[in-house]
Amino acid sequence: MPTYRDIIRAATERLRASHSDSPRLDAEVLLCHVLGIDRTELYRRLPLPLATPLDRFWELVERRARGEPVAYLTGHREFYGLDFLVTPATLIPRPETEYLVTWAAERLRLRRDRPRCVDVGTGCGAIVIALAVTLRTETSAHLVGSDRSLAALRVARTNRDRLAATDVHLVCGDLLSWCRGPLDLVVANLPYLRWEQWHPGIAFEPPEALFAPDDGFGLYARLLPQAATLLRPGGACIVEIDPDQAERAMKTARLVFPTAHIAIEPDLAGLARYLTIELPEKDRAS
Ligand SMILES: C[S@@+](CC[C@H](N)C(=O)[O-])C[C@H]1O[C@@H](n2cnc3c(N)ncnc32)[C@H](O)[C@@H]1O
Repeated sequence: MPTYRDIIRAATERLRASHSDSPRLDAEVLLCHVLGIDRTELYRRLPLPLATPLDRFWELVERRARGEPVAYLTGHREFYGLDFLVTPATLIPRPETEYLVTWAAERLRLRRDRPRCVDVGTGCGAIVIALAVTLRTETSAHLVGSDRSLAALRVARTNRDRLAATDVHLVCGDLLSWCRGPLDLVVANLPYLRWEQWHPGIAFEPPEALFAPDDGFGLYARLLPQAATLLRPGGACIVEIDPDQAERAMKTARLVFPTAHIAIEPDLAGLARYLTIELPEKDRAS
């Protein structure tokens, strides 16, 4: 009878042949998912015989070999240390997006009143729910996640309830067109890819969560002027961009927020990834 180790080896070989970037890890995660155990338990069992029928496991290995992301196969993705449900209706949250949560949380902590923050294009709710969980005891921030996709919002609602972030409001709408403001913070990881940037690694994710018109900057070109009319003096905004858009993002932000402190910040790979905008307090009118 094969051992757990034999099964992992065979699945790893199958996935290596299909050009998975992390065949061994994928095999382990899928086996753990099917058996309902964690990886510590899997390692303990490696030398033991595995008697359970594994049809479901091999079916998932084949789907992974055809390119389906592990997160869609298991239905889970870790983001900011939290377990989020994901479906093919939502983007799979990326590690570089975690910085938006850290940056936004720092700004919200500085405010004594009840700051209002919107995560535009919330998808599975990763940013706004991570913010709510992180800030739970520190501020009474009013947190909203919005998206144009009802299917994505349904997943966000489930994540909100599972992670007990009940104070997060979810709204369906185009960018900030539904919002009356005023706001203290706008956070967004909107689609920013150009169609030429398509590659097989993103083939299973919803195109409307990935691609934007006008060289990938079209949604931010609409969002930034909306944010400018809604943000209070002293307010702030952070958006995740494609590194190729840094110059255009800077120019647009300077036009739209002429008195703000504007910066492009790098991600951990050193790529220009975040546009940050901080409005001066002295203009505070409301
Ligand atoms: C790149 S995904 C990001 C999801 C999530 N914020 C994250 O970081 O994992 C972009 C999201 O923006 C939404 N979206 C696209 N166009 C939009 C629009 N015009 N107004 C609101 N949301 C939009 C998509 O449905 C998708 O959920």
